[in-house]
Amino acid sequence: MISSVFQSPGKIIYGQGTVKQIGEETKKYGKKVMIVTGKSSSKKTGALDKVIDSLKVENLQYIIFDKVESHPSVDTVELGTSIAKEEEIDVIVALGGGSPLDAAKGISIMLTNSGSIVDYEKKQPEVHGVPVIAVPTTAGTGSEVSKFIVITDTRRKVKMLIGGEALIPKAAILDGELTLMVPPDVTAATGMDALTHAIEAYISKKAQPATSVQALSAIKLISENLAKAVQNGENMDARNNMLFAQMQAGLAFSNASVALVHAMSRPLGAYFGVPHGLANAILLPRVMEYNRAACPEKFRDIAKTMGENTAGLSLREASNLAVKAVKELYAETGLPVKLRDVGVKEEMIETLAKDAIKSGSALVNPRKSSLEDLIDIYKSIY
Ligand SMILES: [Fe+2]
Repeated sequence: MISSVFQSPGKIIYGQGTVKQIGEETKKYGKKVMIVTGKSSSKKTGALDKVIDSLKVENLQYIIFDKVESHPSVDTVELGTSIAKEEEIDVIVALGGGSPLDAAKGISIMLTNSGSIVDYEKKQPEVHGVPVIAVPTTAGTGSEVSKFIVITDTRRKVKMLIGGEALIPKAAILDGELTLMVPPDVTAATGMDALTHAIEAYISKKAQPATSVQALSAIKLISENLAKAVQNGENMDARNNMLFAQMQAGLAFSNASVALVHAMSRPLGAYFGVPHGLANAILLPRVMEYNRAACPEKFRDIAKTMGENTAGLSLREASNLAVKAVKELYAETGLPVKLRDVGVKEEMIETLAKDAIKSGSALVNPRKSSLEDLIDIYKSIY
């Protein structure tokens, strides 16, 4: 076995009702809390009230930073950091989907490291951030367990992928109840993001035994639960299973990296504001077709894990079933399938491909790709 490192938060608390443990976990790191959340959804769904109730039980002081937009920007991280400094906070509770969680982790490292968040696109932050207790309210990004964030530099129109051990939250708290109000389209897109994390981590050149176990478990749970969660949002079992699965997918990609789908989806977000999960969902089946022949054994594993019968089939036939299974699952979500349906302009495809090929995620893709390959892929799903 090749030597590998597997990093994760110190504690992962999961299951229904665990939202009540937020106060108890948070108080270990100090008295003054900053809750970092989005502009409205955690208020509408009642998730924010549940967090506040739990903090009050432990007599913790709190302030709320609720300015995080989707595709969180450098400006938002800077604003949150200056407020956190002024208020001398001890600990951050990050509440919401991937955007608030990423912004909170960005603020956390900027409280302990020098310079600007933009500097950390090229180098890892050295000092651990202010402790973060991460509480996801969507089942998708896995940010609550990962060492990555994506912050948008609006001036350069670049989604910066920033990574490092210093960004791993102290604890993740996963309560499916907080995801019950997520609408079907967001459930679908975030779930497809999680599936993409799991598949890309499994086929990544940086895959390792500890990530592959997590990735395959996530693929199985997502294939069994995503359509149920989309079609009946009140299905508590499906919600808890999806939340657990996306956490496993998060652990997998945080340690094994994502690959070409993510390299190609980030420019779609940066130039056209396509939601991250939706951009991945549109790309995933086509990029799987492109990658299949580079690692057919792994594709056969994915097909089996998604319940396909591969007995008696050739490796080619069995590996193709993985692509078929993902296409079928995707069809059940009802999401758009073409880039033109989500506002992408055809004349920008070359620019998108040039940005995507520069991404580190493209380098760990199992198939070595050229600029022309990426242009072809974008065109074929336009
Ligand atoms: Fe993602």
